[in-house]
Amino acid sequence: MGMERRLLLCIAAWILVVIIDVSSSVNVKRVLKPSVFSVASMPLLLIFWTVVTNNLGPDPAKALALETGGWALRFLLLTLAMTPMSQILGTMEFVKIRRMMGLFTFFYASLHFLVWLVFLLELRLDAFGEELLERPFITLGFAAYLILFLLAVTSPRSMVLKLGRKWKLIHRSIYLAATVALLHLIWIVRSNFGEALVYGLVLAALFLFRIWGFLRKKILLSNSAS
Ligand code: HEM
Repeated sequence: MGMERRLLLCIAAWILVVIIDVSSSVNVKRVLKPSVFSVASMPLLLIFWTVVTNNLGPDPAKALALETGGWALRFLLLTLAMTPMSQILGTMEFVKIRRMMGLFTFFYASLHFLVWLVFLLELRLDAFGEELLERPFITLGFAAYLILFLLAVTSPRSMVLKLGRKWKLIHRSIYLAATVALLHLIWIVRSNFGEALVYGLVLAALFLFRIWGFLRKKILLSNSAS
């Protein structure tokens, strides 16, 4: 099993254990959030370690782009999994860490964008527009990043209050960001579709769960009205 997959499993298992272990007398600020913050920072340490030990392989810039992009997408899917997990396990703790997971997604996506800008584009800002228009996978990646940016800036509590009902609508576009990010990945993969297929299946399952929840609510409401 690849290092990334093992680390991803550790992060998911850790979050689950911490939530189940502490949910009876959870101290969100002192236990839950710092624990989740620590495990969510592990990929950054792994990337940092790979850089300082010079283990990025023959094309370090591309390897860095792949690593950071991969983690951005994994955290995006983890963020989307928080609400369903909360409903399945009947605990609100997952919802309490949803914003933090979303901000980690934005953090890894920003790192990915910076790696592209500095090491692949070599800061040739005049070529930025050209790349955006002529390479569809860059257009898709950038579109996904813009949505994540919008979600990050509207994530503070003050914005929830300010935007009211519009906030929920805006934050539903996280599904659009995930779909566009997945298309960005599918555009790049040339031979190994396995990983893209796994991410696609996870996203489809998360979509179906939300649609099922929505339909169930509608049926319950119409039953109670009649
Ligand atoms: C800011 C705009 C973005 C740019 C310019 C960009 C650019 C790139 C580049 C150059 C690569 C490497 C392609 C290759 O040489 O094979 C890549 C890979 C990737 N990107 Fe992006 N990207 C962007 C946004 C995103 C976002 C927002 C996500 C996810 C949330 C994402 C997820 C990925 C993934 C999963 C890969 C492939 C990783 C792998 O194969 O292991 N990218 N991106």
